[in-house]
Amino acid sequence: MTPGGNREAKTLLPGSTIGVLGGGQLGRMMAQAGSAMGYRFVTLDPTPDSPCGQVADQIVAAYNDREAAKELAERSDVITYEFENVDAGVAAMLMEESYVPQGSELLYTTQHRLREKRAIEAAGVPVAPYREIGSEEELRAAAAELGLPCVLKTATGGYDGKGQWVLRSLDEVPEAYETLSKARTQLVLEQFIRFDKELSVIAARSPRGEIRTFPVAENIHIHNILHQSIVPARISGAVQLEAEKLAVRIAEGLGVIGLIAVEMFLTPDGKLYVNELAPRPHNSGHYTMEACRTSQFEQHVRAVCNLPLGDPSLLTPVVMVNVLGQHVQPLLERMAQPDEAAERLGTAPKVHLYGKKDAVHQRKMGHVNVLAPDIDSALQWIEETTIWKV
Ligand SMILES: Nc1ncnc2c1ncn2[C@@H]1O[C@H](COP(=O)(O)OP(=O)(O)O)[C@@H](O)[C@H]1O
Ligand SMILES: [Mg+2]
Repeated sequence: MTPGGNREAKTLLPGSTIGVLGGGQLGRMMAQAGSAMGYRFVTLDPTPDSPCGQVADQIVAAYNDREAAKELAERSDVITYEFENVDAGVAAMLMEESYVPQGSELLYTTQHRLREKRAIEAAGVPVAPYREIGSEEELRAAAAELGLPCVLKTATGGYDGKGQWVLRSLDEVPEAYETLSKARTQLVLEQFIRFDKELSVIAARSPRGEIRTFPVAENIHIHNILHQSIVPARISGAVQLEAEKLAVRIAEGLGVIGLIAVEMFLTPDGKLYVNELAPRPHNSGHYTMEACRTSQFEQHVRAVCNLPLGDPSLLTPVVMVNVLGQHVQPLLERMAQPDEAAERLGTAPKVHLYGKKDAVHQRKMGHVNVLAPDIDSALQWIEETTIWKV
């Protein structure tokens, strides 16, 4: 079988059932957007009553359970996923048994930082200078070559800054190598980019080859977890156009179907480097839910079902702010009270909670899209609530 598998484009109209590997918040919001259009959803996730399972049918089983994946295939007209670490065997089996328009090749590429960087470069898009690392000696030599500081990363399995080590001195080489090589995956060393801003662009591509990009988001991370996405990003029109162009090049070059989220660094001299990709809806695209004519979730459903893509235009300035475990209680208390600050500032805070039971510290529980006449009013509302000071 070709790596792309059974990908002859099918058009799936509302009434069809969409199977989603993974039952987290991305699957939940996908199901909410698709249900509004008349699609049905079934998700596969090991946690009973998962965020997606609360709004769709759910098969409760491990992600690598072949029998359960087979059941998902039988019950679905089309299959998609909400995370990139889909087990390779399950992906291959689903390609065989079912219709998976996104294919397995994009997953294979984006599951691994080195493969991903090579694919981005092959599409003619710059990444930060990097070296493949196979030993402590190689790490020492590459660090000297790229210069300090630099960032050592595991090729697979990292998220929210996990699986990374910022090397500030060659003295740290043995400990950094020893710690990250425990993950038993390849390692990659990247030059540290002294960026002005982190940006992201989400692009959608359908089997017809139609491509649309969402407005550029300016992303602010705290402890390597996304805190805010600010849209429009506070960058020049030229950088905006360039960022969107790079995302289109990647969507085309990698033969994307569905969504691709492209994270980038913007340097003080106006250069863009792509940091990493996610072949799915992305946290930095949650702002689209109320602030764009089409949300990233609707767009994803349209793309995998081969419908014409929706208009991604921005309707209003917006700041998306993530709700972590420690923010839930103060947010709920805020919601029960008249919102004098919102009235005064002319903001409309739209709350999204994912239905997760345990509000664990630093766990993503929801987000708020603060629609506003301008970015400063949205930031002012966030400041005045004091919710995000904890
Ligand atoms: N080469 C780099 N130069 C500067 N900062 C970096 C570099 N790589 C990662 N970072 C910082 O660490 C964050 C997390 O790294 P990333 O590669 O996006 O991993 P993940 O999001 O999977 O944890 C980035 O958003 C950025 O703030
Ligand atoms: Mg990242």
